[in-house]
Amino acid sequence: MSARADIAAPMGLLAELTHRCPLACPYCSNPLALDPRSAELSTDQWRRVFSEAAALGVLHVHLSGGEPASRPDLVDLVKHCRACGLYTNLITSGIGLTQRRLHDLAEAGLDHVQLSIQDCEEGSADRIAGYDGAFARKRSVAAFVGAEGLPLTVNAVIHRANVERAGAMVELAISLGARRIEIAHAQYYGWAMANRRALMPERAAAERAIAEVERLRKCHEGVIVIDHVLPDYHASYPKACMGGWARRTLNITPSGKVLPCHAAETIRTLEFATIATQSLADIWYNSPAFNAFRGTEWMQEPCRSCSRKEIDFGGCRCQALALTGDARQADPVCHLSPFHDRVEFFAEGAAPTVDYIYRR
Ligand code: SF4
Ligand code: FES
Repeated sequence: MSARADIAAPMGLLAELTHRCPLACPYCSNPLALDPRSAELSTDQWRRVFSEAAALGVLHVHLSGGEPASRPDLVDLVKHCRACGLYTNLITSGIGLTQRRLHDLAEAGLDHVQLSIQDCEEGSADRIAGYDGAFARKRSVAAFVGAEGLPLTVNAVIHRANVERAGAMVELAISLGARRIEIAHAQYYGWAMANRRALMPERAAAERAIAEVERLRKCHEGVIVIDHVLPDYHASYPKACMGGWARRTLNITPSGKVLPCHAAETIRTLEFATIATQSLADIWYNSPAFNAFRGTEWMQEPCRSCSRKEIDFGGCRCQALALTGDARQADPVCHLSPFHDRVEFFAEGAAPTVDYIYRR
């Protein structure tokens, strides 16, 4: 299937190798209906995916899950990505990674590790993860990553339970040897949407966290790079989710469905092709689901006549659907959306804390 001049090739591929994971984070980006192990692509099928991705123009592969270390063939898959000339980033909880396994991954050509942390206080971190001992394990894994000479990024999702320690998590990341930290306020779809009342911080607490992280960015310039993903619900304009629908990246689920973003299956009016029946290139360029919200032609007001439409592409389609019932609406995070009050109502975060619905 040949490329189309009006559509750029994707740069990044998120490969969800499995939905299995020892942790149970209440903001997990996996869908509520998880793919079972029996439905997962085989080693050979993933190899074919990576070969096709490289031929399509993909440069970076993010090996993710669930927990990608749950796949016994992880080292083989990294080796194959390296042979295809792909840059590999392992996105991991750390559970299931021994020093030996990290050594084998490094030998196979792994380029980078992204390690999640749930909090900088052990008890809270383990409670959020739903796994006793997770925090201590992650500390060890960070040391193994350093010993292998692999660059480390720490990922921290910010929400009600840890929002007062966003700054302390930057300090923790530095002490773990990370060169980069992604401080991302929770995005509310999938499991996070199910846990929205428990996760949503009060507006004042979110604003304090933002100010503290920005202060530390200046303080630690040259020591650690801080990527700061601001909280949608406390913003006036949305983000260009995924850099725009089907514009730069694609996701593949454990069973081989090809999606423009990890929450796309919540848009039930779309049908997603699988790599078992169609080539990756054909899906990227020609599938109705990828073309549904590509560019700006699909937009209705207020986006259609807005000067920001090529900047944020109307925000997140999945969030628009979740909050308005219509994926074609402007993301209600936008203050110009007629549904913006639905975001403002929750943005105060005043609801009493409730127990998490853990991802199981
Ligand atoms: Fe973005 Fe649409 Fe809001 Fe304009 S109206 S800022 S394009 S979401
Ligand atoms: Fe699907 Fe934002 S998560 S478009």
